[in-house]
Amino acid sequence: MSKKLVGIWMYQNGGGSKIEKQLKDKLLERDIDVYTGLDLSRGYADSIGIYCNQIKMDSLDLFFSYNAGEQTVYQMYLLEQLNMFTTTINSFDAFKLTEDKFRTQQVLRKSGLPTTEILLCHRDDNNRVQKIFEYWEHRLIYKPVDGWGGVGMVKIEGKQSLDFVLPFMNKADLRFFYLEQYIPNDGTDFRVDVVDGRYLSCYGRRAPKGEWRTNISAGGNVFLREPNDRIIELSLKAAEATGLDIAGIDLIYDLEQEDYRVVEVNGIPAFATPDQQAQGLDFNTKKIECIVDLIERKLNGASR
Ligand SMILES: Nc1ncnc2c1ncn2[C@@H]1O[C@H](COP(=O)(O)OP(=O)(O)O)[C@@H](O)[C@H]1O
Ligand SMILES: [Mg+2]
Repeated sequence: MSKKLVGIWMYQNGGGSKIEKQLKDKLLERDIDVYTGLDLSRGYADSIGIYCNQIKMDSLDLFFSYNAGEQTVYQMYLLEQLNMFTTTINSFDAFKLTEDKFRTQQVLRKSGLPTTEILLCHRDDNNRVQKIFEYWEHRLIYKPVDGWGGVGMVKIEGKQSLDFVLPFMNKADLRFFYLEQYIPNDGTDFRVDVVDGRYLSCYGRRAPKGEWRTNISAGGNVFLREPNDRIIELSLKAAEATGLDIAGIDLIYDLEQEDYRVVEVNGIPAFATPDQQAQGLDFNTKKIECIVDLIERKLNGASR
């Protein structure tokens, strides 16, 4: 039997290149061949194949795509097509779903998970926005549905503030409004990693003073944090509902409802950076092991 062939495109910064090396070595140990650096934004296709770095991508047995920072529209377009011929991790459908906050929140809620309250409407639908703003006790967040790192989000709070902001938002070049009720919280969150339906790790992030976003890029800091059963239960359900094999679930504790809410599900949750490892986040080895198991399981066509 010929050897199975796995392609990898992995982020290289923040310790990514080292993680990639470890993944590759572990796959080789299991007699699986590996090609790395398969950046589809430099690939091309013809009537019979998709090519990248002299590799016929659609002949791979599996493609592991793990690079959130360098995605391009072209790369996503080719990945979607490749997904028709080759197993991809994450599956393209699950990944595409979680690239969209509106679609993800609705799927999660329909699966019975506690999420944030949301509204999607046309950017001229001011009456609807006014009404929901009152109903949500004058606290909402505007979010780009495909944003990341807390970028482009606006918190609108206080009775008069919407009248002030809305005219600007109507004029801005937005396709539609995606709004979330602001959840009163203590400025921290939980990030839970799930691989192949199994709980892997949990840590916390704390928003800096004067900031409501916990994102590292917004100045947030990670800290060690144990999950409870409820957090693990919600995270496993969220991963299952979205169909992600590898998922990073963000939850915050709603101080008014006195329960956790799933804020976001990430399809390319980062490994701990060397700095974070020095702080005690020690899940990388286990995560690599779980991903190698997952790849092997998929290659053998076995179900979970
Ligand atoms: N509805 C909300 N209520 C309160 N805080 C929120 C809400 N949504 C997001 N946040 C805060 O903003 C951060 C970024 O939001 P998120 O939806 O995860 O977007 P991104 O993809 O940019 O990380 C969250 O980690 C959380 O701290
Ligand atoms: Mg987030």
